[in-house]
Amino acid sequence: MAEVRLEHITKVFGKEIVAVKDINLKIKDKEFIVLVGPSGCGKSTVLRTIAGLEEPTDGKVYIDKKDVTDVPPKNRDVAMVFQNYALYPHMTVYDNMAFGLKLRRFPKSEIEKRIAETSDILGIEDLCRRRPKELSGGEKQRVAVGRAIVRNPKVFLFDEPLSNLDAKLRVQMRAELSKLHNRLQVTMIYVTHDQTEAMTMGDRIVVLKDGEVQQIADPINLYNNPSNIFVGGFIGSPSMNFLQGRIISNKKTFFKNEIIRIAINEGFVKRLHPFINREIIWGIRPEHLIPVSKTIEGSFKATISVVEPMGNEIFLYLDLQGMELIARVQSHLSYKVGEELQLKPLIEKSNFFNPETEKRIEINS
Ligand SMILES: Nc1ncnc2c1ncn2[C@@H]1O[C@H](COP(=O)(O)OP(=O)(O)O)[C@@H](O)[C@H]1O
Ligand SMILES: [Mg+2]
Repeated sequence: MAEVRLEHITKVFGKEIVAVKDINLKIKDKEFIVLVGPSGCGKSTVLRTIAGLEEPTDGKVYIDKKDVTDVPPKNRDVAMVFQNYALYPHMTVYDNMAFGLKLRRFPKSEIEKRIAETSDILGIEDLCRRRPKELSGGEKQRVAVGRAIVRNPKVFLFDEPLSNLDAKLRVQMRAELSKLHNRLQVTMIYVTHDQTEAMTMGDRIVVLKDGEVQQIADPINLYNNPSNIFVGGFIGSPSMNFLQGRIISNKKTFFKNEIIRIAINEGFVKRLHPFINREIIWGIRPEHLIPVSKTIEGSFKATISVVEPMGNEIFLYLDLQGMELIARVQSHLSYKVGEELQLKPLIEKSNFFNPETEKRIEINS
C-alpha cells in the first residue's frame, strides 16, 4: 500500500512568493499520476514537499494515512529521480546504485542481488563499472532510475526526468517508464511541463497553474472536458482555437461575432440559454474544423496562411479576416498557401467558456 495525500498544502518562499496554494490531492495506491503545468507553476515544489525536501508553510502530507509532514526525507520511503540525474560523478554506476543501500546498512549480498535485478530490468548490466561521465544522457537517466528502484521505495517521484534527452529517446523512455510502472506496480508521481508526456503516461493528470490545481482528470476527460480556458489551451497540440463572440437567438441559436455566424445544435441550446446576448468564448479543437467542398450551412471560409505537413496529417494555419485558427486535416488532399478553404466546425464537439470566470460551461450533463 502506498497512498499519498496532500491536505491544504501551501508553500510560500520568503515573504511573498506563493509557489503552491492550498493543494488537496489524493494519489491512489499503484497510481501513475502526472503533475503538469508551465514552468514556475509549482510542480517541483509539490514533489519536493512529498519527498520532505521542502517544508510546507501550511498543510499536511500523508503517506499511507500516516502524517509524515515532520518526518525527514530518509524516513519517508520515497525515492526521487531528478531532471539533471544528480549522479555522484566520482562513483561507478554500481556504487551510485549501491550508495543509498550502504547508508541504510543493507548486507552486501542483498545489495548485489538488488543491483543485479535492477540492471537486468533496465538493461544497464554492461555499464556498472563506468563512471557517469562515460555515459550518454539516456544511460545516465537509466542509472538514476536504477538508483531509485534498488531502494524498493513505496513511492517514486520523478521531476522532469526526460527533459534533457533528445526527442526520440524521450519518446522511447516514456514507454519504458510506463512499462516499468506496470511491472513494479507501485505509486509513481511524475512531474513534467510537457502535455504529451502527461497525456501518454498518466492514469490521472493534475493540471497546475500559478501554484493552484486547475483540474484533476484522466487524459480523455481532460482533453474532452477541460474545466477552463487554461486547461483547454494547455492540453492538446496544436492548441485549441478560441473565438470570442455572442450567443444570439431568433428562430435558431447562433454563435456570432463580426466575422462568422455558426448555428448551434438543439442539444447545446438549453445550457447556453443564460448566455443569450452575452459574450462567450467558443473553443474548438483543430481536428474539429472539417474542410468541406461547398458552402454548406454552418460553414465558413478562411485563407490558408501556413501549411505544415506532418506526414500522417497536416496542420493548416488559417486566417479568418485577421483571426488565426489552426485546423488539423488528413493528408490525402493537397493544400496551398493563399488558397481559400471552406470549413465546417463540429459544433457538438466544442466547448464554451464564460469569459468572466474563464470556466467551461457545462453543456452535456
Ligand atoms: N527555494 C526557492 N526560493 C524562492 N523561490 C522559489 C524557490 N523554489 C521555487 N521558487 C519559486 O516558486 C515558484 C514555483 O517553483 P517550482 O516549484 O520550481 O516550479 P516548476 O517546477 O513548476 O517550474 C516559482 O516562482 C519559483 O521561482
Ligand atoms: Mg520544476
